[in-house]
Amino acid sequence: MTTQNAGKAEPAPAEGATIENLLREERTFPPPAGFASRALITDPAILEQASTEEGFRAFWDAEGKRLEWMEPYGELYTWDLPYAKWFIGGKLNVSVNCLDRHVDAGHGDRVAYHWEAEPGETRAITYRELLEETCRLANALRSLGVRKGDRVAIYMPMIPELPVAMLACARIGAAHSVVFGGFSSEALAGRIDDAQCVALITADGGYRKGAAVNLKANADEALRRSPSVKHSVVVRRTGQEVEWSEGRDHWYHELIADQPATAAPEPMDSEDLLYLLYTSGTTAKPKGIMHTTGGYLAGVAATHRYIFDIHDEDVYWCMADIGWVTGHSYIVYGPLANGTTGIIYEGAIDYPDKDRWAQIAAKYHATILYTAPTAIRALMKYGADAFARDDLSSLRLLGSVGEPINPEAWAWYWKYIGGERCPVVDTWWQTETGMIMITPLPGITTLKPGSATFPFPGVKADVVDESGTPVPLGGGGYLVLERPWPAMLRGIYGDPERYQETYWSRYPGRYFAGDGCKRDDEGYYWLLGRVDDVMNVSGHRISTTEVESALVSHPAVAEAAVVGRTDPVTGQAIFCYVILRSGNEPSDALSAELREHVAGAIGKLARPKQIMFTPDLPKTRSGKIMRRLLRDIAEQRSLGDVTTLADESVVEAIRGQSGKDED
Ligand code: WTA
Repeated sequence: MTTQNAGKAEPAPAEGATIENLLREERTFPPPAGFASRALITDPAILEQASTEEGFRAFWDAEGKRLEWMEPYGELYTWDLPYAKWFIGGKLNVSVNCLDRHVDAGHGDRVAYHWEAEPGETRAITYRELLEETCRLANALRSLGVRKGDRVAIYMPMIPELPVAMLACARIGAAHSVVFGGFSSEALAGRIDDAQCVALITADGGYRKGAAVNLKANADEALRRSPSVKHSVVVRRTGQEVEWSEGRDHWYHELIADQPATAAPEPMDSEDLLYLLYTSGTTAKPKGIMHTTGGYLAGVAATHRYIFDIHDEDVYWCMADIGWVTGHSYIVYGPLANGTTGIIYEGAIDYPDKDRWAQIAAKYHATILYTAPTAIRALMKYGADAFARDDLSSLRLLGSVGEPINPEAWAWYWKYIGGERCPVVDTWWQTETGMIMITPLPGITTLKPGSATFPFPGVKADVVDESGTPVPLGGGGYLVLERPWPAMLRGIYGDPERYQETYWSRYPGRYFAGDGCKRDDEGYYWLLGRVDDVMNVSGHRISTTEVESALVSHPAVAEAAVVGRTDPVTGQAIFCYVILRSGNEPSDALSAELREHVAGAIGKLARPKQIMFTPDLPKTRSGKIMRRLLRDIAEQRSLGDVTTLADESVVEAIRGQSGKDED
C-alpha cells in the first residue's frame, strides 16, 4: 500500500473548463489483497462491460431477477425523456422482498437489526419478528381505512417501529412520507399538506443527547393545520405526558395488540409509488421526490450489495437517520432486501461519551461503517485518543456520504477508524438518484482520498461546461447523468413543470445534478459541492470544497467552511470560517499562517481574504454546512429561511464575533 504526501500543484485549468482544478492529491490506496480476494466484484472488466447498452441491460436484468416478483416483468425499461419506467408490467411487494423472502428461505432467526437506545436498552429483532410486527401494523392501518394509493406521514425517532411503519405502508401499497424527527411542526404540516396524507405515524417522544424530544406535541400542532390526516398512530417511547385527541389518536401498542401476524401483501406495479421524500431547496418550497417500487428496490439492493461488499456474516452500520434518503436506501430497503444484519442507534454518536459510537461498533462487532464527513470531522476534533480503548478490529470497510470528504478527513478515517486496513468508499448520490451513482467498488478500485472515483457499473456520467460541452480530463465543470437508472426519481409530487425545469432544462436530454465536479488525468471524479458553492474570484471559478480541503490539511484545523463575499476589487473574495482542533488558539499569526498555507497548497489566486475563527458552524439537521447562511453573515445581510437549521444559537455566536480584513 502506498501512502505518499499530498503533492502541491500549480493551477492548470483545462481549456474550456468552468471550475478551476486546483487541489491535487497524490496518495493512492489499492484494494488490500485480503479484501480483494473475497470481494463480490473482483473483475474490473465489469465497468467496461456495463458501459454498452447491451451490457447495461444485462447487468440490471440480472439484478431485477434477484427480486421476487408476483408477476414477471416484460421489457427492462422505457425512456420517454424525462420519464423512465423500469421492469415494465412486473408486480411485486417491497415488504415481501425485504422480509417474507428471507423467512421463507430459512433465515427467520437472523437478526435484521440490533437496536441500541440512547439511554442504553437494546433489542435484537429477527427477520421473523420484523415480518410479524410489520403485518400487525399493516392490518391495523387497513382497519383504520388506509388503502393502496394513500399517503401516510411518518414522524418518528430512530426506533425499530420506524422501519416497521415504512414496511407496513409498503405492504398495503400506501406511499410513506417520512419527515425527519428533528423538523418543526411547521415543516411537518407543509409536507403533510403537499401530499394530502391521510394518516400519521409518530411517537410520544424520542431521546437525543439525554433529553426527551417532544414529538407528539409537534405532531399535534401540525395536525391542527393539516386536516387531511384522519388518524394518528402513536408509539409509546418515552412515556412522557401527551395530549390526546379521542377518535383521531391511537396508541400503537393497543392498535396492533389483537392483529394477526400475517397480512396479505398488496401486489404493486413496478411503477407504483413507494414513497415521497422531501428535500429542501434554499428558498422555494420543499420538493416531494417520488420513488417507485421495482426499479428503486433493484437499484438500492444492487448498490448496497456490491459497494458495501455484503456477505452473510457482516454486521453493517449506517449511522445516518432513517429520515434522510441515506436511511431509506441504506438502512431500510437495500440492507433488508439483501437480508443483512444491521445496527440502528437512536441517539447522538457522542452521547453520553465521546466514543459512544465506537462502544456500539465494538459491542456488535460491526464490520462495515457508513457515515458522513461532518461526523468524521467531529470525531477528528475529539482526536483518536477518545476511542483508543474501543476494539474496532472487526471493521473491514468504511463508507462516506453526504458531502465532499476532504482528503485529510478521509486519511484520518482510513488510519484511525479503519486501522489502515479498510477500504473507504466515498459514495456520491442524491435524494433524487435514490441509489449511489459514483463510487469505488472496494475489491477493484484504487482509491484516492477525496475522490468518489468512478460511476457505478452502467451509470453514464459526464462533466460539462456552461454550454454543455464535455470538459476534457484534467478540468472541472458540472456533473450530468446521461442514461436512466432504475432508482431514479420519477418526478416531483404534484409539480411536473418543476421536475422538468430543475433537472432537465439546463442541458436538454441530460440530468443536471447541481454539483460541480472535476476529473483528473486518470478519469477519477472529484465532487466539488453544490454549484451555488462556487466562488468567482477575479474571474476564476473556485470551488469552496477545494479551499476547505486545503485548510483542513493544516494540523491546527478541524473543520472549515468557505464562502465568497462581494469584493470591490476581485468580484468575490474568499471568506473562511475555521474551527480549530483542540489545543490550538486563535491568533493573528495563525490566521496569516493559514492564508499562506492555502496559497501554498492550491495557488495564490485562492489565498483567503479573511479567516474567522469560530467554535461551531451552522448545519442542516443532516449535517451539511449551510453556506447560504454563512454568505449572508459574511455579507452582513439579514438571514433568509432558517427552518432547516439544526441549532440557531450557532448563528448568533458567529455574528457576535467581529472579523476584520487582513489585507
Ligand atoms: C452532496 C444524500 C460529494 C452533493 C445522499 C449532492 C456529496 C447532495 C456526496 C445530495 C459525496 C452527497 N461527495 N458530495 N460522496 N454525497 N453529496 O439529497 O452535493 O441529502 O448533490 O442526498 O449531497 O444530498 P442529499
